[in-house]
Amino acid sequence: GRGNYRHFMEKELHEHPAVIGDTLHRMVDPGTRAVALPKLPFDLAAIPRLTVSACGSAFYAGLVGRWWFETLARLPADADVASEFRYRAPPLTEGGLGLLVSQSGETADTLAALRYLRAERQHVLSVVNVPESSMARESDAVLETVAGPEIGVASTKAFTAQLAVLACLAIATARARGAIDAAREAALTASLLEIPARAAAVLEQDAEIQRVAAILAEARDVLYLGRGNCFPIALEGALKLKEISYIHAEGYAAGEMKHGPIALIDPAVPVIAITPSGPLFDKTASNLQEAAARGGRIIVFSDAAGAARLRGIAAETIVLPDVDPFAAPLLYAIPVQLLAYHVAVRKGTDVDQPRNLAKSVTVE
Ligand code: M6R
Repeated sequence: GRGNYRHFMEKELHEHPAVIGDTLHRMVDPGTRAVALPKLPFDLAAIPRLTVSACGSAFYAGLVGRWWFETLARLPADADVASEFRYRAPPLTEGGLGLLVSQSGETADTLAALRYLRAERQHVLSVVNVPESSMARESDAVLETVAGPEIGVASTKAFTAQLAVLACLAIATARARGAIDAAREAALTASLLEIPARAAAVLEQDAEIQRVAAILAEARDVLYLGRGNCFPIALEGALKLKEISYIHAEGYAAGEMKHGPIALIDPAVPVIAITPSGPLFDKTASNLQEAAARGGRIIVFSDAAGAARLRGIAAETIVLPDVDPFAAPLLYAIPVQLLAYHVAVRKGTDVDQPRNLAKSVTVE
């Protein structure tokens, strides 16, 4: 049941800290802080290329994964939505790694992508939440997210659990390829292990997030901006808002704004910036200046240092705990999902069973 929570989605949002912790504890040795994955039937050091395929939120987790694999492991990587990937039918060199990400393990297009990857002689690894699923059965190896059943149609805890698995897999690949040493590995896993406590702190910021939800509930369109490994979190925020509140939203790479969407900006279109401190912060900050100069109503999600820098232009600021830029997507996913939840509650939509949607999309 949903206990004392109003909706399954609310309950599942509050499970983020435990689920991230459980998923990490299966993959990180607490003593050495090294990633210890189950034995895989292929050699991570020998893989020439990674191909990620998934749908919806799982695809956004895959996009963050691609970023981690490229930046950390220096492994060439591609990611595409399964419904495009399977018909695009790209030629692949034998021996690459095909990676599927799916909560249910039953999504029709992702399953078809899996079969395509197998036909192209890729090693097939799936990250699924249901170990008895079709994808798990048809894969060479499975890394399980330990999210428990997810009832709300909007994915919440399964998404952060996917990120936790992908982060560990990218670290293990980086180590296997000699791209990082043991000290860097321990620092990276430490940054992940800090997330559950920080996530619990974010869930305490419910009242602040409700204040932002009151603004969004009046909007017809909302723009979410992010960069680097937080660009997919902007996509996730926009998808979640569309899905459960029926407000039109778009996730955009902050640097693309001036190539078109800036024309939309006026005081009626809230601009949500997902912008933790880090190497890309200044770039996003200047994009936000441009939006503010055109009357945009800027809502900032950042840490104390980032928030201080943007206070002059922000209509609202949500100050999140400090986090290593590597692990930021795990933390920043939580307030954007919580925000969509509160907007939907204010609008009185059916949060757990949004119109026209199914939990598992088993037709293409
Ligand atoms: O079961 P899957 O992870 O394969 O599902 C993929 C998408 O259908 C799913 O993430 C969908 O986008 C969610 N409803 C998003 O909240």
